[in-house]
Amino acid sequence: MEKNRSAKMRRPLRVKIISMGNAESGKSCIIKRYCEKRFVSKYLATIGIDYGVTKVSVKDRDVKVNIFDMAGHPIFYEVRNEFYRDSQGAILVFDIGNRVSFESLDTWVQEMRNEFGDKSESDNMVVCVCANKIDSRPRAVDEAEGRLWADSHGFHYFETSAQTGEGVTEMFQALFEGVVTTVENGGKKAPFTTQLGYTKEQIEVIQRLKNSKSDCERLGISPGATKDDINKAYRRLAVLLHPDKSVAPGSEEAFKILVSARTALLKRCS
Ligand code: GTP
Ligand code: MG
Repeated sequence: MEKNRSAKMRRPLRVKIISMGNAESGKSCIIKRYCEKRFVSKYLATIGIDYGVTKVSVKDRDVKVNIFDMAGHPIFYEVRNEFYRDSQGAILVFDIGNRVSFESLDTWVQEMRNEFGDKSESDNMVVCVCANKIDSRPRAVDEAEGRLWADSHGFHYFETSAQTGEGVTEMFQALFEGVVTTVENGGKKAPFTTQLGYTKEQIEVIQRLKNSKSDCERLGISPGATKDDINKAYRRLAVLLHPDKSVAPGSEEAFKILVSARTALLKRCS
């Protein structure tokens, strides 16, 4: 009996992984970095789908991973839509320098849900969001915003660079561990526990404070605002961002900006 069980444990587990995300976000390069330890800077669009196999060891088990690398371009929808079914994990990639690629993530999740016949199957997919190209600048999507989006969907979040390799191995390790755990759990994904502890509103306020061009804009008030209006707006934002209470990344810097914006506006009133 014991012998049988260990023999069963030795049989490689077969899993299916797919890649999703807009064209040029770096899906193929992330996979290449992991499987072949190299990076190609020239853009070679995936035509329809690419397929590869890799063997890994996860939680003391041999795992044979079948990777279906999808083309992100909309013209390939008819080709890639065949490949969603029966997959257990996905990398969902956006380019941190391209805001549209981040804003498209919801559409990708929708496409995945549509292509899975059974809703519970897509709900049990283990998804790793890759905020890719962290080696390049400027950033159009902050880490806090990316993390919040992933967290609110029950997905893992990693900052990656296919060019330098940063974050890539850790991301795949988490993906494979998540998939193996799901398989061992009879196909049911382990419940996702959020550890972020901050809200979308906090992220939006931090971004507004950091990116606005005037103090009125920072506080969200009109140029003719009274002392009272300024203090009211200040208090509302201070509650959201006080560094003793807020764990949202960037709170401390945003709080300092808030304090100096309020001081400058009050001076103008006196
Ligand atoms: P499709 O196959 O068309 O869906 O695109 P894709 O998402 O597979 O993108 P691909 O991996 O082909 O990469 C697109 C371009 O981005 C290429 O020119 C890559 O060299 C570049 N690229 C990918 N990852 C990175 C990265 O981490 N850093 C930098 N600087 N460039 C990257
Ligand atoms: Mg590709």
